[in-house]
Amino acid sequence: MKLFDVYPLYNVTPVSAKGVEVIDDKGEKYLDFYGGHAVISIGHSHPHYVNRLKNQLDNIGFYSNSIQNPLQAELANKLGVLSDCDDYNLFLCNSGAEANENALKMASFQTGKSKVIAFNNAFHGRTSAAVATTDNIKINAPINLQQKVTFLAFEDFDGLEAALKTGEYCAVILEAIQGVGGLDEPSSKFYQFIEAKCKENNVLVIADEVQSGFGRSGKFFGFQHHGIKPDIISIAKGMGNGFPVGGILIHQSLKASYGMLGTTFGGNHLACAATMAVLEVLENENLIENANELGCYFYGKTKEIMAIKKVKGRGLMLGLEFDFEVADLRKKLIYKQHVFTGGSANKKLLRFLPALNITKNHIDVFFDALKAELK
Ligand SMILES: Cc1ncc(COP(=O)(O)O)c(C=O)c1O
Repeated sequence: MKLFDVYPLYNVTPVSAKGVEVIDDKGEKYLDFYGGHAVISIGHSHPHYVNRLKNQLDNIGFYSNSIQNPLQAELANKLGVLSDCDDYNLFLCNSGAEANENALKMASFQTGKSKVIAFNNAFHGRTSAAVATTDNIKINAPINLQQKVTFLAFEDFDGLEAALKTGEYCAVILEAIQGVGGLDEPSSKFYQFIEAKCKENNVLVIADEVQSGFGRSGKFFGFQHHGIKPDIISIAKGMGNGFPVGGILIHQSLKASYGMLGTTFGGNHLACAATMAVLEVLENENLIENANELGCYFYGKTKEIMAIKKVKGRGLMLGLEFDFEVADLRKKLIYKQHVFTGGSANKKLLRFLPALNITKNHIDVFFDALKAELK
């Protein structure tokens, strides 16, 4: 059997990784400023993470959600405190798309409505309702297009108000900082307008923090830069530092009932151990502050390169916009400089999504590599 060929691949085969460093099958070292698409939050194979997962596996790796699993409650408690969201309840699943799928389903259960407002260039995942709220027709099959989604531009105050007034919508879903779309973000004024108008019209606000959450933006959640409180918050990626885990934080005003949501694997013992390890490292090593501080350092360094037209993002969710497409530059950075970076729907944007425990020295190395290839 061969693999179903859906991924265009770079010709690098990592066999081990430690911190920010990835080593390939020929023993060549690379610096990982992509984090496997914003997944590696506390660094590859962090010793605390490895120990926690190994110990968990020595005890119990998995049982279903039909038994008591105190690790889930422990995780919910820790997450509530660290994120300043202890007035939410936690539902655990396995990926970002699944988190958004459950968030949209919750909003629809709660309101009895089925239409959703999403934003231009949004990316919310590849499952049924999540992909329909993703602004990319190429990854929507006819079956997905049965969902009723209205796409608006950020800052379209009138469009948002008019749509919500129809009384047909269950949710507005948005990324605080767009990831795949290219690091655009709504203004605080627009964010607060969404919150107010949704309240007025009994529509739920879903903050997709799959990429911007868990400290990447320099606050625990990206929406916290804008002083609002969503009804549902989707999480995944950095949450497990590579272990597949996702979830939604559901405001406690929304009530649960048995069977309303469910999953076989979600919240299993290993997933909880991985997420607990991430939270402990974020806290013990002050990584959210580090993301904030290094984001500022990164912004300062961009002044050294004239070819950079725009700097986008916050914390360690950053991008550099050029007046040319960056596909070739990314290849040169990988093959010649041994530096991994990210792309986006905006072909002129180079993304920087490293682990949150990088240092200024790593950023200096990144800019030296960039200068060498821009010569
Ligand atoms: C903001 C956002 N939401 C959802 C997803 C989907 O997550 P997953 O690939 O884990 O399903 C992604 C993935 O890139 C994302 O960036």
